[in-house]
Amino acid sequence: MPKVLANLEHARVLLQQAKRAVAFTGAGISAESGIRTFRGDGGLWNEIDIETFATPWGVQKLLQNEPQTYCKYLDMRAKIIYNAQPNAAHYALARLEQRGILAGIVTQNIDNLHDAAGSKTIFKLHGDLKTWHCLTCGAHAQQSVDDLRQRITAAQAVTTRAEFLALLPRCKVCDGYLRPSVVLFGESLPEDQVHGAMALLGQSDCLLIIGTSGVVEPAASFARQTSRRGVPTIEINLEPSDLSHVASVSLFGKAGEILPELVE
Ligand code: OAD
Repeated sequence: MPKVLANLEHARVLLQQAKRAVAFTGAGISAESGIRTFRGDGGLWNEIDIETFATPWGVQKLLQNEPQTYCKYLDMRAKIIYNAQPNAAHYALARLEQRGILAGIVTQNIDNLHDAAGSKTIFKLHGDLKTWHCLTCGAHAQQSVDDLRQRITAAQAVTTRAEFLALLPRCKVCDGYLRPSVVLFGESLPEDQVHGAMALLGQSDCLLIIGTSGVVEPAASFARQTSRRGVPTIEINLEPSDLSHVASVSLFGKAGEILPELVE
């Protein structure tokens, strides 16, 4: 049997034995939905400077000195993410949960595509784009995509930080400014999501690592620790990643093609 098929068979056996499998996902699972990954060919961080656009201090500085540059970046990201639809890989995971094999998903993605595909138990280690929180009192608020689209469109005309701030949604509790609850480099992960993810992974009996380079900590260490606990681990990626060495079996190819084959 060719190695690719043998690996797929091996992975099927591991998954068939599972009662509480958990998927750990990264940007690669959404690549076939048209959302760029961060690293590798076409990766966002090849063109965009992380320090400038994805750290709290970088964003503060940009808003002070070049608000238009930051608004253009937001527009570029939002246009893609807000228009993206789940792909076959997201749907395959949702079906696996419905069938009682997958206990849940731990994702690094902020695009909400697992929710859109119908998955129910999802822990979002890096936050998500619809959940916002107040910079003053910390209260959480959900923002509709339509509302955010309008604000981002309006933001393309801003020339000062004050004009940018005036476009931010306000807190219903204390009228403070809201910001999206997405994690920037240098910030801590949301505690509730971390606790949920750890509990889910702690009880898992099979781990699917899908579309992540496995280089960002602490997220990658959650997958690594789960594997090292002896949990059978199936990796799906275009190429070897920093987590390949902990995988029981690696399936190389597109998640949108491999996952449906694995699951059916
Ligand atoms: P990366 O961009 O680092 O890695 C994406 C992975 O997906 C790579 O290993 C690709 O080989 C793989 N890949 C690409 N297309 C694929 C496909 N169709 N099917 C399967 N695999 C595919 O993305 P993440 O590992 O998610 O954090 O990055 C982790 C974090 O770094 C992100 O959450 C983000 C980023 O900076 C923050 O912004 C805090």
